[in-house]
Amino acid sequence: MVALRLSLLLISFITTVRANPVFRNLVVHEARQGIPSGFLSKGPAAADTQLNLRIALVQSDTAGLEAALLDVSNPSSANYGNHLSMDEVETFVRPSVDTVAKVNDWLATNGLQSTTSSPAGDWLSVSMPVKQANELLRADFTVFAHHETGKQAIRTLSYSIPIVLKDTWISSIRPLRTFPNPRKILPVFSSPINSVSNTAVPSSCASVVTPACLQALYGIPTTKATQSSNALGVSGFLNQFANQADLTTFLKNLRPDISSTTTFTLQTLDGGRNPQSPKQAGIEANLDIQYTVGVASGVPVTFISVGDDFQDGNLEGFLDIINFLLGEPNPPQVLTTSYGQDERTISSILAKKVCNAYAQLGARGVSILFASGDGGVSGSQTQSCTTFVPTFPSGCPFMTSVGATTGITPETAADFSSGGFSNIFSRPDYQITAVSTYLIALGGTNLGKFNRTGRGFPDVATQGENVEVVLGGQTETVAGTSCSSPIFASIISLINDQLFASGKSPLGFLNPFLYANPGAFNDITSGNNPGCNTNGFPAKAGWDPVTGLGTPNFDKLKKAAGL
Ligand SMILES: *[C@@H]1O[C@H](CO)[C@@H](O)[C@H](O)[C@H]1NC(C)=O
Repeated sequence: MVALRLSLLLISFITTVRANPVFRNLVVHEARQGIPSGFLSKGPAAADTQLNLRIALVQSDTAGLEAALLDVSNPSSANYGNHLSMDEVETFVRPSVDTVAKVNDWLATNGLQSTTSSPAGDWLSVSMPVKQANELLRADFTVFAHHETGKQAIRTLSYSIPIVLKDTWISSIRPLRTFPNPRKILPVFSSPINSVSNTAVPSSCASVVTPACLQALYGIPTTKATQSSNALGVSGFLNQFANQADLTTFLKNLRPDISSTTTFTLQTLDGGRNPQSPKQAGIEANLDIQYTVGVASGVPVTFISVGDDFQDGNLEGFLDIINFLLGEPNPPQVLTTSYGQDERTISSILAKKVCNAYAQLGARGVSILFASGDGGVSGSQTQSCTTFVPTFPSGCPFMTSVGATTGITPETAADFSSGGFSNIFSRPDYQITAVSTYLIALGGTNLGKFNRTGRGFPDVATQGENVEVVLGGQTETVAGTSCSSPIFASIISLINDQLFASGKSPLGFLNPFLYANPGAFNDITSGNNPGCNTNGFPAKAGWDPVTGLGTPNFDKLKKAAGL
């Protein structure tokens, strides 16, 4: 302890001598009250531990980006479908020359140099040892451990920046006070291996869900898509690998009408891989690939494997993959991700930055879909709680959150389907009518347990229980909203295929279109999502925070899209 204090004093002295006086007055920029539940302090971080920090610079026109996104995504707008180019998006996002110069001046004054880490230059990376970061940012970097998983992270509960940089120049520094999500994956929960007959037909869909069930339930075409410029991206994280041999078995069993050698392409970032040994097949990755290749017949599918060398701190690649796609001239028009975390593990500034990155991709015509989570109202996974736990990124208004249903007579909300209301993002215009109608019908139920002004999620739902997959050559059934996101994404890709064939734009950011067409959904009116010692939210007529607008009716969605 004493030694640490001394070295801090020494640094403090040196810095004061060298610092440009204009950067000397620090103000608290972000702070959180206490340690999030489940984490313990293990004491100060070692002074010489190297920290990789990311600085988010203030964008030139965030409001302009959001307005442009809504303008091209709202079916009643004259600009509907006129998506922006990479350049047009970057014009809104690129920080001013002055902003970049001022931040780099501050860093240089402290002997530090940054590198640009996003295509538009709105993120900078900089490395420094803990002792320097503690001084520079008037922080108290500490080792925190999660008591269940033992996972450790170096964080500070607050940090400061020079008053001259506040708000005008820096919008956030990462990773500082955001806590790692100890259970970031939404693992599909897998039932004991069933021996499932290879000739499952729709009458069996009440107990085992297959692509044929989904085709029958939602009217999904079995004919192959034709457009090679169409692409469906599937995110892979946490060393979850998608196995081609399992996909082949899956297609042989369940899509005998298409070639069993149908494959997917691979893109990697942050050292991502996709090794093919059967032992390395990941249940999440296999599910995601089998229910895209196997449902979006003929649509080119890309598995995007994010490795462990992520540059975005404990977002663990969530931001990297979006920046990666923003840097591509032609990113896939649909991206599905079955990973997420609790919203409370993320600072609101950072959550807004990631959400802004989705807005950038959306403005370029990309539909971004995420599984809503598997803990009902208790978060991404079941946990004890007193107030409801919204998930991330489902609270972001610029993506589409997919919940889960089960059964066929009638199709009912799955009880694990996460849904609720964000504590960070307020309700976007496109869902005001749908959500207020629900809140009126809900009355006083769960009063005080959730944020009545927040963005409501999920937006839509599909089947998510008893879903048949192949893993390591074995057939089994899995459950989770992890099933639902790739299924809904496949439907959107099939509609995009037909849009391209008739010379039209892809659907892009979906929500204004979806909420303008509630009649294109099978309304789910039974079931609920328990958690936090409550029954959670009940599904009701119209939108609800368990199944959103409901499950898709392909033909009606197609008509709504002008086909
Ligand atoms: C409720 O949500 C709003 C955003 O709609 C947010 O500003 C507010 O802080 C939230 N309240 C709580 C208690 O989290």
